[in-house]
Amino acid sequence: MAANRNLLMLPGDGIGPEVMGEVKRVIAWMDANRAVGFDIDEDLVGGCAYDAHGVAIADATMDKAMAADAVLLGAVGGPRWESLPFESQPERGLLRLRKDMELFANLRPAMVFDALAEASSLKTELVAGLDILIIRELTGGVYFGEPRGITDLPNGERRGINTQVYDTYEIIRIGRVAFELAAKRSGRVCSVEKANVMESGLLWREEMTKLHAAEYPDLELSHMYADNCAMQLVRMPKQFDVIVTDNLFGDMLSDTAAMLTGSLGMLPSASLGAADATGRRKALYEPVHGSAPDIAGENKANPLATILSYAMMLRYSFDLGADAELVELAVRGVLDKGLRTADIMADGKELLSTTGMGQAVVDEMAALAG
Ligand code: IPM
Ligand code: MG
Repeated sequence: MAANRNLLMLPGDGIGPEVMGEVKRVIAWMDANRAVGFDIDEDLVGGCAYDAHGVAIADATMDKAMAADAVLLGAVGGPRWESLPFESQPERGLLRLRKDMELFANLRPAMVFDALAEASSLKTELVAGLDILIIRELTGGVYFGEPRGITDLPNGERRGINTQVYDTYEIIRIGRVAFELAAKRSGRVCSVEKANVMESGLLWREEMTKLHAAEYPDLELSHMYADNCAMQLVRMPKQFDVIVTDNLFGDMLSDTAAMLTGSLGMLPSASLGAADATGRRKALYEPVHGSAPDIAGENKANPLATILSYAMMLRYSFDLGADAELVELAVRGVLDKGLRTADIMADGKELLSTTGMGQAVVDEMAALAG
């Protein structure tokens, strides 16, 4: 059923199209059984866009992304495009989407599913029940700061430059997202930077402290240096609830947190812009895992992170919390039944293909919905 919900799908490269195929299966079921339908358009991003248009994302695709209610992305990149010049690399497509759509708030939940707790590289008791949310600033900092580039020096050497820069408004708006989401969880926010070394980190700490006192005095704010945070994440991860941090530290800490859960193949993410006058936010949802070119086309990839990204989309872009929960419960259900893709396979469990796992999720949704 068309419902004026415009969704742009960008499957991308590698395993992207395969995992997106399983989201389509879930969407078809939702459409038929829960009247949750979308007007879906599909386009290219990453290496496949370069092959077709000579750029990692075409302007026409950008226009569609800007107009869509939500964008669902698979993955970009692969060895075929690694020798391209920097400006043409598949990742530039993703970075342009983030920047032009002003998706400043990246939500990266790291949850351990009970059935997978033993797959973590940490002791089971350290991670069982883990549920943390990393909020990464996504449109500022050293990823986009100027000046940047590689220049030739008079002495024949070269110099590479990137700039870490944050303005107060960028810190305050990501801080608000963190406090508002924490208010729906445990109420605890840990703000992470290197205020001991970097002025941008000092400003970050000062602004977070002021924002907390002015607008969220009932919540709890703590501060941590990024190196210590990396250490604490592998030492005692359950001490954290919401972590808010800058673009580069968030990139690294979210990979660490992802690994705690036992499989990168399980983790979704949401990237959100500011709310407009009608309350609508531009939004992009994507799995945290990459394009996994080594297994692309083999029907082996784990589609659960993309399916869970779709669930985040239902919740954050369309306010369909009950439908999001049905998808999440179905994912939990298939894991509890011992169904596994290769990346999370363990002794005594049943190995499924990508399509097999997608179908298992749909069957579980049908069973749960009665
Ligand atoms: C991520 C990725 C990207 C990043 C790459 C693909 C540009 O590592 O989303 O974490 O560095 O932000
Ligand atoms: Mg990363």
